[in-house]
Amino acid sequence: MKAIEIKPGIYWVGVIDWDLRDFHGYKTPRGSTYNAYLIVDEKITLIDTCKLHLFDEMLARISDVVDPARIDVIVSNHVEMDHSGGLPRLLDIVPNATVITSMRGEKGLRAHYSADWGLHPVDTGDTFSIGKRTLSFVSIPMVHWPDSMVTYCPEEKILFSNDGFGQHIASTERFTDEMGMAVVMEEAAKYYANIVLPYGPQVQKAMAALSGIDIEMILNGHGLSWRQDLDVILGAYARWAANETVPKAVIIYDTMWHSTQKLAGALAEGLEVEGVSTFVGSLQATHISDIMTHVLEARGILLGSPTLNSHMLPSMAGAVTYLSGLKPRDRLGLAFGSYGWGNQGVRDLTAAIERLDWEMPVDSVAVQWRPTDDDLAAARRAGAEFARAIKEG
Ligand code: FEO
Repeated sequence: MKAIEIKPGIYWVGVIDWDLRDFHGYKTPRGSTYNAYLIVDEKITLIDTCKLHLFDEMLARISDVVDPARIDVIVSNHVEMDHSGGLPRLLDIVPNATVITSMRGEKGLRAHYSADWGLHPVDTGDTFSIGKRTLSFVSIPMVHWPDSMVTYCPEEKILFSNDGFGQHIASTERFTDEMGMAVVMEEAAKYYANIVLPYGPQVQKAMAALSGIDIEMILNGHGLSWRQDLDVILGAYARWAANETVPKAVIIYDTMWHSTQKLAGALAEGLEVEGVSTFVGSLQATHISDIMTHVLEARGILLGSPTLNSHMLPSMAGAVTYLSGLKPRDRLGLAFGSYGWGNQGVRDLTAAIERLDWEMPVDSVAVQWRPTDDDLAAARRAGAEFARAIKEG
């Protein structure tokens, strides 16, 4: 395993998780990486580690540059175990290393590892000299956990951003310009939608804290890093954090005997007639974490379910729980579905939309048994009316 020199004296020594397909409920068909960086200075410094089961890969990459026993300083930007999992084994090798972490990181690392490590907690504005280079720290709570922080090296103009600006992509390429931007930005959007979306205000605070910093390179914790197109990813994060939406609709539904599916199709036709871009996500075909990529910027969200045992379908209940946890704000919602003898499915979805505090500019669409031609025509009209509300913003 080789290290990759990023700049003189700074190396990528992370790991590639080719097999990762699920990250706490988020499907990751392209795998991921857990990026760690080695800075060879008077104090040899490692920024972040990796998941425990891939520790030997990271150790081999470090060994390609220096004897790991020479590491003096470890920066733990984030407690989550995809970045800190390798710490216990590393500290077996370098028990006297200084471990720098945020104030909350100190508590988090002790709670997770029950270890009596000599932790060096830092707060925003604190600096630490490693020789010719300085590290400065900015706390960015909730991007992604309360403990999260970023590390900046002013001499190199590098931001080590951990979870921020990443994507779940496994690759031997290390920079976004080595891969098509369409793939990178699709995965960056999916990552934001599934990991960062609930924390827009905190992202805005983090972006404000970083705004005065001269950044030439962002070395993030997952996927490909940024040495070009920084304006693209920073601009996207600014838009997403501000909850900017576009006139687009996403239909999320499941169906039992195809009646709710027919209603989804009729609603999509109505949206199409009004020229509103629409993504139709059947939970039988598309995972909710992929649908979330479309929800990220969509102004209108339509939720559909038949009734099963006096509730919406369990698959929709799961999807709605996932969606609600990610808290997309200020959207327009519409509930729809078919039912046999009780309309609780659509009622459940309406209640979910109310809890999300979304406006419902159009009445829900509920049809008993099979939708007739008249029912489908009414659903098309509802879709068109909903599309006009989306376009009005
Ligand atoms: Fe990549 Fe929040 O861990």
